[in-house]
Amino acid sequence: MRASSFFGVTLFAATALAHGNITSPPARQPGPVMQQVCGAAAVSAILADGTGPLENIPSSGAADCNIFLCKGAQFEDNQNNVQVFAPGEVVDFAAQLPIPHEGPCNVSIIDTATNTVVGQPLLVFDSYADENLAQLPLNNTAFSVTMPTDLGAQCQTPGDCTMQWFWFGTAAVQTYENCVDFVMSE
Ligand SMILES: *[C@@H]1O[C@H](CO)[C@@H](O)[C@H](O)[C@H]1NC(C)=O
Ligand SMILES: *[C@@H]1O[C@H](CO)[C@@H](O)[C@H](O)[C@H]1NC(C)=O
Ligand SMILES: *[C@@H]1O[C@H](CO)[C@@H](O)[C@H](O)[C@H]1NC(C)=O
Repeated sequence: MRASSFFGVTLFAATALAHGNITSPPARQPGPVMQQVCGAAAVSAILADGTGPLENIPSSGAADCNIFLCKGAQFEDNQNNVQVFAPGEVVDFAAQLPIPHEGPCNVSIIDTATNTVVGQPLLVFDSYADENLAQLPLNNTAFSVTMPTDLGAQCQTPGDCTMQWFWFGTAAVQTYENCVDFVMSE
């Protein structure tokens, strides 16, 4: 019994170390407003490991705290971190995947007020971060999306839209997200 709980704890510690996140463009970070909304434990979990899954982030349970939207990170903490993209612009992403878990991945523009996808996903991997491959395809850590040209007046006000990288490790049952806040240039 003792031995098995010891190994259980060890395994948890090992898998809790690092899984993946995007390193560019700059993504939403936790801050004081997130702490107010989602609680100090949620912020601490992200600061302890910025690559961990959403399932490791405890929510305060407050109605305004949705860990499954941008990891619970709040726009108000990131107002100085808003990118400007032009219609048709190709935006390069870099990701790090220290512990891959096979599953689907996508990049989409999200309407933050409703947490719904705007238009079509910009990029879809049916299979991403497959740990059974000898080497991950280069496009798992370096990929790009093309900004839509048909958004009209949408996404011109900071905070209205965010670009979300979403990855779900199917066998691991772990979800990873990062959000790039942006506005479309007119
Ligand atoms: C990615 O994870 C690293 C390691 O915890 C962290 O330093 C970095 O801030 C994270 N980046 C993002 C965009 O969350
Ligand atoms: C992105 O992938 C996840 C996991 O398969 C899925 O739940 C979500 O609907 C996808 N998003 C879009 C916009 O396709
Ligand atoms: C990523 O690269 C792999 C291997 O070259 C390719 O099969 C796959 O279609 C690419 N996926 C995307 C979304 O570009």
